[in-house]
Amino acid sequence: MTSIDSPLDKTTAVPRPRSSGDHEGHLLEVRDLHVEFHTRDGVAKAVNGVNYSVDAGETLAVLGESGSGKSVTAQAVMGILDMPPGRIPQGQIFFRGQDMLTMSAEERRKIRGRKIAMIFQDALSSLNPVLSVGYQLGEMFRVHQGLSKKDAKAKAIELMDRVKIPAAKARVGDYPHQFSGGMRQRIMIAMALALEPDLIIADEPTTALDVTVQAQVMDLLAELQREYNMGLILITHDLGVVADVADKIAVMYAGRIVETAPVHELYKRPAHPYARGLLDSIPRLDQKGQELYAIKGLPPNLLKIPAGCAFNPRCPKADDICRTEIPALAPVTEQDGTELPGRGSACHFWKETIHG
Ligand SMILES: Nc1ncnc2c1ncn2[C@@H]1O[C@H](COP(=O)(O)OP(=O)(O)O)[C@@H](O)[C@H]1O
Ligand SMILES: [Mg+2]
Repeated sequence: MTSIDSPLDKTTAVPRPRSSGDHEGHLLEVRDLHVEFHTRDGVAKAVNGVNYSVDAGETLAVLGESGSGKSVTAQAVMGILDMPPGRIPQGQIFFRGQDMLTMSAEERRKIRGRKIAMIFQDALSSLNPVLSVGYQLGEMFRVHQGLSKKDAKAKAIELMDRVKIPAAKARVGDYPHQFSGGMRQRIMIAMALALEPDLIIADEPTTALDVTVQAQVMDLLAELQREYNMGLILITHDLGVVADVADKIAVMYAGRIVETAPVHELYKRPAHPYARGLLDSIPRLDQKGQELYAIKGLPPNLLKIPAGCAFNPRCPKADDICRTEIPALAPVTEQDGTELPGRGSACHFWKETIHG
């Protein structure tokens, strides 16, 4: 039996362990990552052994309700975690095979911001309100590539064109508040693209936007990702937004990955009751008029994660074992045992869930 407090907890270690140098050539690989926050009320265990990888040209969607540790994981990758109160007691973050948690600050700086860029939900608070967008875009080229003011401005216009901002040349001197929310998010994408990174982490990039604008911005991101052959990590609480653009999906709950799957397979046949619940709570065109399902209860308090499977208090399938043993993220197979590549479920009852 495993306990969530055990530092040797191997419950999420599906494709592991491998020798530490073996990263299988992934662009990014997060391995057994743990993040905790030391607060006045106790230790909040925000990330509890996350494993995921992304390759060039691949899109990984990270899905889960608010508070499941999606952003904290990304912040650890990006090196922008609040430390303290945050702490990484365990784990590795390989970028092209090198662990960013153990490399020198100098080496890390070369990667973060240049090779890995991040896009946030709220462009208004990420952009400087008193500088024109052209200036802010141009700054990337002036600071990092030493371009002249004039050349940097030309580059800024080019980037604005790339992200399909109409009349880029005329608008390069405009300020952030003069753009719509969707256009501002395009400017954030342009900023992220400026140095042609290998990986973009987009944390709820369209959450603040109207539904139609969401789809446009998401399509643009997907298009640019293909064109530049970048890796993309798309963080979202909304499965509907990522279904068309992601290759694979990792579902997080209480700081753990509870299901991994190629995105369309998760849609067709979820293997974890939590993923099933998320799916059933999306409005569908073919089920008009039907009442929408909502997962009962709330995500756990991270200061006091339930014993066993953290989802058990909300799970319709929960049994005794679920209240005592943390389920490992186990490979998911067909009924006859045929492997389903890329699929894993951290549910004691995954078989019933997918095949039942
Ligand atoms: N700076 C912080 N200080 C204390 N706790 C934090 C901090 N940032 C995040 N947390 C904790 O980590 C949990 C997970 O946060 P987060 O990764 O942002 O969730 P989400 O999945 O919504 O992105 C939060 O619910 C909170 O308990
Ligand atoms: Mg978040």
